[in-house]
Order: sequence, then C-alpha cells, then structure tokens
Amino acid sequence: MFCARIPKSLQSQLVWVATKNFSTAPQRNSKVAVMGASGGIGQPLSLLLKHSQLISELSLYDIVHTPGVAADLSHIETKCKVKGYVGADQLRDSLKGVDVVIIPAGVPRKPGMTRDDLFNTNASIVRDLALAIAEVCPKAIIGIISNPVNSTVPIASEILKKAGVYDPKRVFGVSTLDIVRANTFIAEAKGLDPAQVSCPVIGGHSGVTIIPVISQCKPAVEFPPEQLKALTERIQEAGTEVVKAKAGAGSATLSMAYAGARFAFSVLRALKGEQGVVECAYVKSDVTEATYFATPIILGPNGLEKNLGLGKLSSYEQELLIKALPELKKNIQVGEDFVNKK
Ligand SMILES: NC(=O)c1ccc[n+]([C@@H]2O[C@H](COP(=O)([O-])OP(=O)(O)OC[C@H]3O[C@@H](n4cnc5c(N)ncnc54)[C@H](O)[C@@H]3O)[C@@H](O)[C@H]2O)c1
Repeated sequence: MFCARIPKSLQSQLVWVATKNFSTAPQRNSKVAVMGASGGIGQPLSLLLKHSQLISELSLYDIVHTPGVAADLSHIETKCKVKGYVGADQLRDSLKGVDVVIIPAGVPRKPGMTRDDLFNTNASIVRDLALAIAEVCPKAIIGIISNPVNSTVPIASEILKKAGVYDPKRVFGVSTLDIVRANTFIAEAKGLDPAQVSCPVIGGHSGVTIIPVISQCKPAVEFPPEQLKALTERIQEAGTEVVKAKAGAGSATLSMAYAGARFAFSVLRALKGEQGVVECAYVKSDVTEATYFATPIILGPNGLEKNLGLGKLSSYEQELLIKALPELKKNIQVGEDFVNKK
C-alpha cells in the first residue's frame, strides 16, 4: 500500500494525462504557495513544483529575493505561472486564492544544534504565516516543513483555532524525508531499487520521535537485531549526517525539496480526485496519547481522508514508541504554550 511502483513525479504527470483524456469537466489545476521560497529548500522545491502539470500557478513568498527567484523560474517552458512576493507587506497577497501552502521558511540547523534549538526563531515565523493563512486562505491545505515540526504544527493549529478556521484534516507536518531516507537506506542494505521500497515512518520528526516501521516495509525485509538497531538509528539521525557533512552551511535542502515536492504532488493528486493516495505525515491524531502523530494516511479532496493508524508493530518498534511519546508530548506542549501562554 505504501509502495508506488512508478516514481511519484511521473505519477502526477500520468494522472494529469489520464484526467485530460477521459474527463469532460473543465480542468482547474491548483494554485500553490511556497513560503520561504528563496531558501535552500524553497528554491529547489519551487523548481520541482514548476514542472508539475497539476499546478497552474505558483506563488513564491519570502522576506528576500523572491522577485529574482520568480523571474528565473518563470522562463522555464512549462505552463505553470510563477509570481514572487517579497516582505511582510506582500504576504497576504501571496496567499490569495491558494489551494495548497507549503512552508519551508525559517532557519536551519548548524552542527551541534538540535531541531528544538531552532524553536525561538521559527516559532514566530510559522505563527505569523499561519495568521495570514487564517485570514486569506483558511481552506488551504498546509504542509509545514519548518523545524521543529513536532512543535510548529501545533503552533499553526493553535493559531488557526484561535481564528476559528481550524480544520485538522488540512494541517500536515511534512515528515516525508524520513520515509524517503528509510526507503533509500533499506534499498542500499538489501541491494534493492529504492523506487520499489516503501517503509512507513511514524511518530514525529526529530531524533527518538522518528520511528521507522521496518517490520511493515514493502517488500518485506529482515535484519539481524544489531543491524536493525543501526539502521533505525541512521534513519533517526540522517538529518544530522547532512548537517555535519555541510559543516555549517545548513541542513538537508535538496533531498528535502524532493520530499516536499513528493508530498505536495500526493496532496494535489488527491485534491484532483485520485483515490487511495497514501503518505505518512504528522497530523492531529488520536492514534496514541500524543495529540499529534505521524502515521500513514489516505489523502482525499479535503486533505486527510483516513488515518491508517499504527498497524502491527514489532516488539522493537513498540519500545521505540514508548521512548518517543514523552519527548513528542513535550514538543507538542511547547508549541501550544507558545501560542496560548502569552
Ligand atoms: N521537515 C523536514 O524534514 C526538514 C528537513 C530539512 C530542513 N527543514 C527545515 O526547513 C527550514 C528551512 O530550511 P532551509 O535549509 O531552506 O533554510 P534557509 O535558511 O536556506 O531558507 C529559509 C528561508 O526562509 C526565509 N524566511 C525567514 N523568515 C521568513 C519569514 N518570516 N517569512 C518567509 N520566509 C522567511 C529566509 O529568507 C530563507 O530564504 C528550517 O527550519 C529547517 O530546519 C525541515
């Protein structure tokens, strides 16, 4: 179920072709906004989105450089129109008529930092973007990339609640990179084609809260306990691997742009009516005692259609879950308190 046999990017094109050929309804493709579009993630993410036939308009917002990024992208020979918006004065205009908002705005990690160290800066960035979304495009589907995702998703949710427009089915923490990494590392270890591997990753998006569910991987794979532990820890710490290798120049940007585009394409395919689109994402949840939790979900025309829950966990994965929950609950509380205790 988690495994797409055709690369996601190609699927979006195929769906578009199928819809174009067989539907008599007028076609309306989506308008997507990227908030933080000039950044290390924002630029390659916008490039990938510009290539999608599912998107008719791309709105690029940042506090710097977006006119240039938009001018550059607008020369690419695809139909999607691109417009740049720069600075707080243009924030609300950038969100007009938007169906999907993807948020990679904020500072990334440097060596020695945890994702929680980013909280002070990124919390207020996500809060201010959520305030504008609540006002201008309250029905948009929101994908939050800005870290710490475990806390920024509760922040955005509390802001939307306060504005009276919160719909938990429309707010997602983008944890797709954890799945992308798990698929890649498992494929490497087993000599498989990564495009054929699909491993759910549940929980949150930092350290011990990242829970790869290798027992549910498709195709089924088995590892001796030591190797399973090492692989699990590599998936949990893969972001730090990149932060260290970049040696002060930031965190994952290109793989995150790929993962963000994969998530956005899945949301857009479901918006267009494709059935059975599954992604793992960090969402409002009653699957565990943590009030936000990433699990595989079915996406639909209104965002989250069905939460597929934990499935059957191995005893090792249950131990990981027990370790993750206190940390995750703490991260959620910090996010909620940021909005409510002021
Ligand atoms: N979810 C994930 O798996 C994942 C993976 C990697 C990175 N991240 C996170 O994504 C975020 C962005 O990372 P990056 O490497 O692109 O950083 P970056 O510094 O290269 O880019 C961030 C961009 O955000 C912009 N920005 C700052 N304040 C803003 C505001 N108020 N409104 C709009 N834009 C604003 C900056 O001008 C910059 O262009 C970080 O928080 C990072 O930790 C998440």
